[in-house]
Amino acid sequence: MRIGLVQMNPKFGETTRNLDLALKLLSSKPADLWVLPELFNTGYQFISKKEAYDLSETVPSGPTTQSLIEIAKTLKTHIVAGLAERLGKKCYNASILVGPSGHIATYRKIHLFYEETRWFTPGDVPFQVNAIHYKSQAGGRRKCNIGMMICFDWIFPESARTLALLGADLICHPSNLVLPHCPQAMITRCLENRVFAATANRIGTESRKKEKLKFIGQSQIVSPRGQVLSRASSHKEAVHVVTIEPKDARTKAINPYNHLLNDRVEQFYK
Ligand code: ACM
Repeated sequence: MRIGLVQMNPKFGETTRNLDLALKLLSSKPADLWVLPELFNTGYQFISKKEAYDLSETVPSGPTTQSLIEIAKTLKTHIVAGLAERLGKKCYNASILVGPSGHIATYRKIHLFYEETRWFTPGDVPFQVNAIHYKSQAGGRRKCNIGMMICFDWIFPESARTLALLGADLICHPSNLVLPHCPQAMITRCLENRVFAATANRIGTESRKKEKLKFIGQSQIVSPRGQVLSRASSHKEAVHVVTIEPKDARTKAINPYNHLLNDRVEQFYK
């Protein structure tokens, strides 16, 4: 399965320009699934709740989701992308999964970071895993179980663990990382859960009448054995495609005596 990462520098508030750039980048190479950054179409540093709400869109009827569905149909691919989702008077920091059949799933960020707590409602639905199908390079129809989490969710190991317990082969992880730790920490998340993870981060800076935020790039794909299969630079736009075998995430036995998920001793935790 070919996994593509788009690392880009959105311009704040320029949703059409940002969407067009993302579509251009993901059209530049073939892949079975693309992962775009968190809030890829709006930019990150909102200055009011109203501004976040005004830039949010309904899912799946809004223009960004519809454009992503359209290109997924044309390119026969799937796309995971972060955007601000509008629902009534609420606004969520969300990630959508779309494919040739249309909208498949929405994840609403559960662990909001810093000032996001001022603009967004925390995610109110559990983590979930959705199967998608792709054509293997040998020609057969294959399945990959996709879980989604967003950026700061990484610091809560329960996020990736829950997705692994739900059967995720691949964690798609749209991000706008500013702290330096996540790229290395995701290696541990993959090792401790035997899953693939695709973190699509942004680059550039934002300082909208406030502190300057510098986004760290380093979008990456990590294997269930903790190998970094691809890592982008910290400052350049990038489109990376890596071929993975989703089945490699399904063997949770560490050795004949130990099993990553079954050996947990829940009665001693908390
Ligand atoms: C983050 O969660 N965007 C740091």
